[in-house]
Amino acid sequence: MKQGIWKVNSTKENSVEIIRTRSELQARVRAWKQAGETVGFVPTMGALHEGHLSLIEKAKEKVTRTVASIFVNPAQFAPGEDFDTYPRREAEDIAKLASVNCTAVYLPSVAEMYPEGSVTNVRVESLSDLLDGIYRPHFFYGVATVVARLFLHAQPDVAVFGEKDYQQLQVIRRMVRDLGFPIEIIGGETKRDADGLAQSSRNLYLSPEERRAAGAIFAAMHRASVRLALGALPSEALKEAEGHIVTAGFRKIDYVTLVDPATLQALPADEPMKEGAVVRLLAAAWLGKTRLIDNISVTR
Ligand code: PAJ
Repeated sequence: MKQGIWKVNSTKENSVEIIRTRSELQARVRAWKQAGETVGFVPTMGALHEGHLSLIEKAKEKVTRTVASIFVNPAQFAPGEDFDTYPRREAEDIAKLASVNCTAVYLPSVAEMYPEGSVTNVRVESLSDLLDGIYRPHFFYGVATVVARLFLHAQPDVAVFGEKDYQQLQVIRRMVRDLGFPIEIIGGETKRDADGLAQSSRNLYLSPEERRAAGAIFAAMHRASVRLALGALPSEALKEAEGHIVTAGFRKIDYVTLVDPATLQALPADEPMKEGAVVRLLAAAWLGKTRLIDNISVTR
């Protein structure tokens, strides 16, 4: 593929610049900043849906230029996970980005992100080892490493991440704090389908029958959140939620848990939430071969 900055039109008005190398991206961002513009960044792995696009819209509230990246990051997939089958839809994605007036899309190669012989990684300890980190031990190390590299390529003023991946958002916030990246991290709320299922590129894996069952994960969490807000014991509300998820046809639950929203440490299961408390309810469960995750805020 020829290198260079291309413009792709989705409609007559909207076009998105296509950038494939770090040096081009840095030059472009430098030029914008010199002209007094501000830059917002939304990293993704593509197969874009409304959730992703809502993060671009959120960035646009803060900045004058927006850059999305699409990179299926090999470092965050373990052997046997879905790296090879992860959906790749570059042309459609570019058209969607153009439709929301995203300024540019960064589409780096693996060699661009991980130059030959590269051995430098970022580990956000402790936060990366809880919850999803227990089931996917290398996952957040791969995420932190690629996001740190993407931040250095894009050098944005602001970056937006979805609350859909709540633990990831906390890991990134911590990395930015610890390493002193001069980037403001903003969380975007989770976009859901009509039945409450959080939008996800991995929902494309679901069969029609699985898709019908998938809404149960949010329904069960929502019901638990109402019970918890009314003072139910977490042990009982969470057990009931697990029951609903299994009854709906999920084959395995990795966790349904209530945690402190900042530290992600589990909260006591045998005492009701305190008045005024704000906590996070997180769940991960398998529907056939697809692992779904979701989370919601619970306030008493
Ligand atoms: P990906 O799963 O493509 O998600 C990209 C961004 O979109 C993440 O910040 C994610 O939290 C957000 N997102 C996903 N589904 C959403 C929804 N339904 N509503 C709102 N936001 C949603 O997360 C990754 O890619 C990768 O780990 C990445 C950060 C790009 C590093 O490789």
